[in-house]
Amino acid sequence: MKTKITEMFGIEHPIIQGGMHYVGFAELAAAVSNAGGLGIITGLTQGTPEKLANEIARCQDMTDKPIGVNITFLPTLNAPDYPGLFQTIIDAGVTVVETAGNNPAEYLPMLKDAGIKVIHKCTSVRHSLKAQSIGCDAVSVDGFECGGHPGEDDIPNFILLPRAADELEIPFVASGGMADARSLVAAMAMGAEGMNMGTRFIATQEAPVHENVKHAIVAASELDTRLVMRPLRNTERVMTNAAVERLLEKEAKLGKDLKFEDIIEEVAGVYPKIMQTGDMDAGAWSCGMVAGLINDIPTVAELINRIMTEADSIIKQRLQSMA
Ligand SMILES: Cc1cc2nc3c(=O)[nH]c(=O)nc-3n(C[C@H](O)[C@H](O)[C@H](O)COP(=O)(O)O)c2cc1C
Repeated sequence: MKTKITEMFGIEHPIIQGGMHYVGFAELAAAVSNAGGLGIITGLTQGTPEKLANEIARCQDMTDKPIGVNITFLPTLNAPDYPGLFQTIIDAGVTVVETAGNNPAEYLPMLKDAGIKVIHKCTSVRHSLKAQSIGCDAVSVDGFECGGHPGEDDIPNFILLPRAADELEIPFVASGGMADARSLVAAMAMGAEGMNMGTRFIATQEAPVHENVKHAIVAASELDTRLVMRPLRNTERVMTNAAVERLLEKEAKLGKDLKFEDIIEEVAGVYPKIMQTGDMDAGAWSCGMVAGLINDIPTVAELINRIMTEADSIIKQRLQSMA
């Protein structure tokens, strides 16, 4: 399938694997890129430029297709070495960067000079327009359904995507709630040039996470996510578990007085315990409502091929027969 996004990134299928903390390692990114999508390494999981350089090199050993690196701007006091991380990406010859969190304007000139395409993840039309105005090449429009940080506007993709299509000139992909061929065709119908998936890619053979995580996603329904940290205006959609229910009780009790320190036990240092040790009650970890549509653990190639084959038949048979 040819879209503005496949053309821009030099990929075969309009499917992107979004950056995911402690999931987006070389193995997953390479599997997605080898299957014709765009695999993305999560920069901040590596943390330092040296470790990121090593992870990119490992990925490049596993694929000669285009790969991307996600750099997330976090609201943190001890900021990572962002200039060093971006320089590492440039030196490694990576062709796509996915940015998220704050505005990436400061780093766009160095990325542009290196010929790198930048896709910025946004949860609103106004942020998407800002990304366009500062020179981002594309936007990943992340609806309220998404796993991770949906922002504070709570606009689901059935509204957000057509609104983005009405306003944007640069291409965008649909992100949040995307699982299968139906998601892809619907996203395209609403004006997207492809889709970005997070949660769906965790439940694949190649995702380098503990089996408990994959089984938790398969077992979960669309009712099993919760929004946490809303009082801190840092809302995150996570899979519910004992720690999350405890966290929500604290939020209800403390109300406006809630501080990050009150919930540190439920949110800090959780990812290695969940993703690597499989301790599923260790704390809050991002997961999308789309878990309700995930019922198997295929290889990445099986997943992507299935999506593309079924998309073809939805378009040529189901929709065509209605025309
Ligand atoms: C476990 C997990 C970790 C994530 N970590 C990050 C991250 O570090 N940076 C980022 O920009 N997005 C992160 N995301 C968001 C994804 O890149 C993607 O935008 C989101 O999962 C899309 O929604 P979906 O899960 O419904 O597909 C994460 C998502 C999940 C599920």
